[in-house]
Amino acid sequence: MLIIGPPGSGKGTQAARISERLGVVAISTGDIFRDNVKRETSLGVEAKKFMDAGDFVPDSVTNSMVRDRLAADDVREGFLLDGYPRTASQVAELDDILRENDLELDVVLQLTADDEELVKRLLGRAKLDGRSDDNELVIRHRLGLYHDQTEVVVSRYDERGIVTKVDGIGSIDDVTERVMAALKVAS
Ligand SMILES: Nc1ncnc2c1ncn2[C@@H]1O[C@H](COP(=O)(O)OP(=O)(O)OP(=O)(O)O)[C@@H](O)[C@H]1O
Ligand SMILES: [Mg+2]
Repeated sequence: MLIIGPPGSGKGTQAARISERLGVVAISTGDIFRDNVKRETSLGVEAKKFMDAGDFVPDSVTNSMVRDRLAADDVREGFLLDGYPRTASQVAELDDILRENDLELDVVLQLTADDEELVKRLLGRAKLDGRSDDNELVIRHRLGLYHDQTEVVVSRYDERGIVTKVDGIGSIDDVTERVMAALKVAS
């Protein structure tokens, strides 16, 4: 399955909980990039400048990273992808990757929240863990990119009838319960 939502909608938080409950591996492209930045790998050095500006890391880097990760054995028991695809062209790329590995998407979970709530949450997170892309200017840029480029990703999967939409506003536990209830219906 995929988890899609604007920055700050709680994708990573919910992904960890869903992954534990369903026993499937959670794969976050943002986390993989941040881990590479921290270890100063060549991938990390390349990605950092884009991430700090709130821009998408180029497809040449991102697609091959996802292709490698989805070829691993643990994915065959099920997987939850967080942060990919973010553009229409990444949707096409993911279709190819899944086909090559004989995998299929069952559900696309869409987490929703309005922009003002998201800005508030991300500024709060900035105080706690100081992510280099959590300042107001960059946050607004990332939200703009979500509206301009990632909403169409949701539409593509909606046309396939596999989107389950969940309200991301409320306590973390409440949202998890909503997600689990929605997944039972969807699966
Ligand atoms: N599929 C992708 N394509 C291009 N760049 C990506 C992709 N996934 C992650 N990135 C890069 O990593 C950064 C952080 O991604 P991440 O998913 O952690 O953040 P987010 O969705 O903005 O916020 P949140 O952590 O709150 O969900 C992005 O701003 C982008 O630079
Ligand atoms: Mg995240």
